[in-house]
Amino acid sequence: MLVATFAERPDLAARLGELEDAFPEFMQHGDVTTRYWPTFASGRFPEYQLVLYDEAADTILGKGQTTPFRWDGSPADLPDGVDGVLRRAYEEGGEVTTLSALVAVVAPSAQGRGLSRLIIEGMRDVAGRHGLDALVAPVRPTLKPLYPLTPIERYLTWRRDDGELFDPWLRLHERLGAEIVGVCPSSLVVYGSVAEWEAWTGMTFPDSGPYVVEGALVPVEVDRERDLGRYVEPNVWMRHPV
Ligand SMILES: CC(C)(COP(=O)(O)OP(=O)(O)OC[C@H]1O[C@@H](n2cnc3c(N)ncnc32)[C@H](O)[C@@H]1OP(=O)(O)O)[C@@H](O)C(=O)NCCC(=O)NCCS
Repeated sequence: MLVATFAERPDLAARLGELEDAFPEFMQHGDVTTRYWPTFASGRFPEYQLVLYDEAADTILGKGQTTPFRWDGSPADLPDGVDGVLRRAYEEGGEVTTLSALVAVVAPSAQGRGLSRLIIEGMRDVAGRHGLDALVAPVRPTLKPLYPLTPIERYLTWRRDDGELFDPWLRLHERLGAEIVGVCPSSLVVYGSVAEWEAWTGMTFPDSGPYVVEGALVPVEVDRERDLGRYVEPNVWMRHPV
């Protein structure tokens, strides 16, 4: 199993299209993420992007995408999640201090085999190599879609009998040394017309109001009068020492 940056292995980066989709369709339509994602796809900052590759099987198994940004180290100065960190990095600029994870994906067929830690450890290595002071991650808790009505502030406090965090993805970050810094309430925002939301979800939204949608961490708010569906995804900021 190999973790390499796009800069080290452009040949593998060019094969990322082979990676199976791991997110629900509506996640591909974020207002801010769609603005900046193409710049990553076109090869910007290749030394900060990772690919997970199974050499024996010649298969792309995952990826980790990050961006360096400016942070003074205080919880109050953390931007609001994925959208906030992209805006800070690409609209405000400033001297970068810290690495932020943006996305980590293990191919659905390879999930549950303990591979994700390689991606997080790889991100931490990248931060260290570039002299950045920490790795922070706006973590998308993987089991939160099963509890869409629970406020994330409560959800992130849930622990199992053995003391470890309830959510597997938060748990893994904590086990690798990260601490929870706080909630980013509007980490990823998706707006669409009612027809777009119906196409993305395969559901029908006959009325205005909140809807529980598969894969969504919180309900989607539909306003039929304004022909608008709005999803505001909260994530959990975690900080890894480097
Ligand atoms: C989140 C993700 C990267 C984790 O990768 P993974 O390789 O499947 O995870 P691992 O095998 O390393 O397991 C990590 C923990 O999650 C648990 N886990 C894995 N799949 C699980 C599932 N379907 N249900 C419950 N727990 C699960 C594992 O048991 C492990 O916890 P444990 O060590 O305490 O038992 C992967 O599931 C994924 O790509 N998901 C879709 C994209 C995503 O949500 N990315 C994260 C936000 S950007």
